[in-house]
Amino acid sequence: MDLLIGIDVGTSGLKAVAVDERGTVVARAMREYPLHLPGPGWTEQEPEDWWAAAVSALQDITSRLNPESIAGIGLTGQMHGSVFLDVNGEVIRPAILWNDQRTVAECQEITERIGQENLINLAGSPALTGFTAPKILWLRNHEPHNFRRLFRVILPKDYIRFRLTGVLATDVADGSGTLLLDVPDRRWSRTILDRLGLSEDILPELFESTAVTGRVTETAARLTGLPVGTPVVAGGGDQAVSAVGMGVVEEGMASVSLGTSGVVFAATDRPLVHPGGRVHTFCHAVPGKWHVMGVMLSAGGSLRWLRDRLFSEETAVAGRIGLDPYELITAQAQRVGIGAEGLLFLPYLTGERTPHADPWARSCFIGLSLNHDKAHLARAAMEGITMGLKDSLELLRELGIYGGEIRITGGGAGSPLWRQVLADAFASPLRRMELNEGAAFGAAVLAAVGVGLYGEVASACREMVRVGEPVEFSQTRAACYEQLYVLYREAYIRLKEIFPNLRQFDKK
Ligand code: XUL
Repeated sequence: MDLLIGIDVGTSGLKAVAVDERGTVVARAMREYPLHLPGPGWTEQEPEDWWAAAVSALQDITSRLNPESIAGIGLTGQMHGSVFLDVNGEVIRPAILWNDQRTVAECQEITERIGQENLINLAGSPALTGFTAPKILWLRNHEPHNFRRLFRVILPKDYIRFRLTGVLATDVADGSGTLLLDVPDRRWSRTILDRLGLSEDILPELFESTAVTGRVTETAARLTGLPVGTPVVAGGGDQAVSAVGMGVVEEGMASVSLGTSGVVFAATDRPLVHPGGRVHTFCHAVPGKWHVMGVMLSAGGSLRWLRDRLFSEETAVAGRIGLDPYELITAQAQRVGIGAEGLLFLPYLTGERTPHADPWARSCFIGLSLNHDKAHLARAAMEGITMGLKDSLELLRELGIYGGEIRITGGGAGSPLWRQVLADAFASPLRRMELNEGAAFGAAVLAAVGVGLYGEVASACREMVRVGEPVEFSQTRAACYEQLYVLYREAYIRLKEIFPNLRQFDKK
């Protein structure tokens, strides 16, 4: 049977899965890499680390199956990151990531040059700090020597494409996250580029997510074990591609993905824009479809922070007995009731995108008392992250595009407690997927369409995607969460003036 490989260039690591044409996963490999924090609110990674991870994960996979059965490769990854390349294809400086907050001034510059309303109608979103266009302007404003060397700016997964095939290309779904795409027309926006004084030449060629963009070169084949000439399909940004992996490809379907970021996503048949641009309207990884999504920056990221800073003992124990540390952490959270005995967590460790678009927002535990311990912190963190996702869900409800059941994926979806908290707080049934492979699986589905095993994404999803058990919600618990949500919303409003003033104490 033909096999498809999906590669996801995530924030904490790279994941590759090999899937057969019926959607059964036959091999998977994961490699971690570091996240660099070179300044307050700055996040960077080395594209070379992504490539080393891809080579090692692909070697691992190709050594376990017959490489000749690999029919195609699909790519996905963290969105918005800027990989700046010079004319020789060398990386000019570390990539600036989706949750980096350094571009506040550049976002103002973009809004002044284009106009807020115009920008929202063209690009589907206002200028937000994590997006790619402000990063290009930041390079021009702060590192002119690097800007002079700039030949192309590409997105994280497209760097893997470049190293696999030698081709510089991207797709409309990931391209939407640059703020340089005309989202309704699905092409680079001349208007935006002209107003920003940027040439279209710095952007890669644009494809729909199912197009074949190139083939594995001899050098890449030698390094990875892939056959020379294997087709590499465009793929898309991780959110749209995760949605494909869950079969969320038609209007009326919605999903939640719990990775480092947390995303509430709904597929649409038309480019439906929120009047204030409070959620992003982007091209879907399905030709002729769009989607709307709200993105919180630190969802699983908040829990990872808690694991690393407070739960080192549990992490060590988990390592010894071969358990996932999050199982021990959530087991503690399970002992505590709704509202964590009066403890509220705001999940703004790296600022927030939806719904506040506030780079200076910061996290807090509110209501700490002597009777609270780590278990309460874990429970409050899970609930606070869930409230942040509920903020996005309410915006989708305002747009009238969310209806009924929500599908769920990502690391957080593996926890039964968290799934229940989500269903109760959303007052909505959830459905987990039979496989929790995230965006890498969606990339394999797109590869299957790209190489012609299926005629369109919807039919590939019908054959390859399997939904799992439903998670029902309780009205009583939903009512408790509604009360908590009122306090959660109020907390940000009351504290938002304080956050920017805390910056005077940033490490100089
Ligand atoms: C989406 C977003 C994040 C990243 C990281 O807009 O910024 O979800 O794609 O995975």
